[in-house]
Amino acid sequence: MNRIRGTTRLVAILGDPVEHSRSPAMHNAAFAALRLDYVYVALRVRPDDLRRAITGVRALGFAGLNVTVPHKQAVLPLLDRLAPAAREIGAVNTVVRENGRLVGHNTDAEGFRRAVRALGFRGRGRAAVLLGAGGSARAVAWALAGEGLRRMTILNRDVARASALARDVRAHGGPVVEVGPLDAAMAADTVGGADLIVNCTSLGLDGKSSPRVAIAATPDHCLFYDLVYGARPTPFLRSALRGGRRTGDGLGMLLEQAGLAFHIWTGRRAPLDVMRAALRS
Ligand SMILES: NC(=O)c1ccc[n+]([C@@H]2O[C@H](COP(=O)([O-])OP(=O)(O)OC[C@H]3O[C@@H](n4cnc5c(N)ncnc54)[C@H](OP(=O)(O)O)[C@@H]3O)[C@@H](O)[C@H]2O)c1
Repeated sequence: MNRIRGTTRLVAILGDPVEHSRSPAMHNAAFAALRLDYVYVALRVRPDDLRRAITGVRALGFAGLNVTVPHKQAVLPLLDRLAPAAREIGAVNTVVRENGRLVGHNTDAEGFRRAVRALGFRGRGRAAVLLGAGGSARAVAWALAGEGLRRMTILNRDVARASALARDVRAHGGPVVEVGPLDAAMAADTVGGADLIVNCTSLGLDGKSSPRVAIAATPDHCLFYDLVYGARPTPFLRSALRGGRRTGDGLGMLLEQAGLAFHIWTGRRAPLDVMRAALRS
């Protein structure tokens, strides 16, 4: 348990919902292991309150933040500066105070890249289907484009949002990008050539819902990765497992992005083993 004193520096995750977050357990274990005088708390901030919350963060001298659903894009104009990756991705999940100024970073992209690499996925020349076009889908798309993907299909309930993301990916060169509605994942010709299918929607956060995919039409080696995570396989991954496909849940990405954020706030290398153990407990 971290001892909270007058000198203790505050880091918070802002989101809505945020109660399910495992980030407090992970970061507080890491602060304690390295004897750093920090504490990490989860704060529920409704979309209409984000601007006032960031004003509060400035006034209260928070050392850093994580930003999660649904604020990753909305927070951009409220910050003083963006690191290059965050600017290109158009989404922020980590904020650090530097000389009183709030600087936005994106560690989701590199966290995702490391997590799927650990599962043996190499992007060069491959085809991926992204379900979702929100803040985390932006990070995933950016990471995969940087890996030399051949083809990317972005499917989203709001197709205009998928098209906007596709335009941004194309602006940096890289893969052929196609867009469509979320239910196009039920079409064999959409998913038939996919090496990777990633759920970047918030479907599954409730433990019940899932985007629907024509799993039988995907190649046997296709990897199903869900950004959502939980104690048990998510509904999206349960369907993929029933179809005999390889799966990975968002815990790997959560751990990797957290390690990178920890380093940004503290300048210290994150104790990933301690953080992994805290995630599992
Ligand atoms: N494992 C990790 O480290 C990690 C990191 C980042 C995010 N995540 C998870 O990834 C998920 C998305 O996060 P985000 O930051 O990208 O959120 P976001 O910016 O709010 O985007 C939400 C996405 O989900 C879609 N969506 C929401 N409700 C839906 C519904 N009822 N039916 C169909 N689509 C729906 C949205 O589609 P529309 O555009 O049509 O609204 C949008 O594509 C969350 O579950 C989050 O917890 C995990």
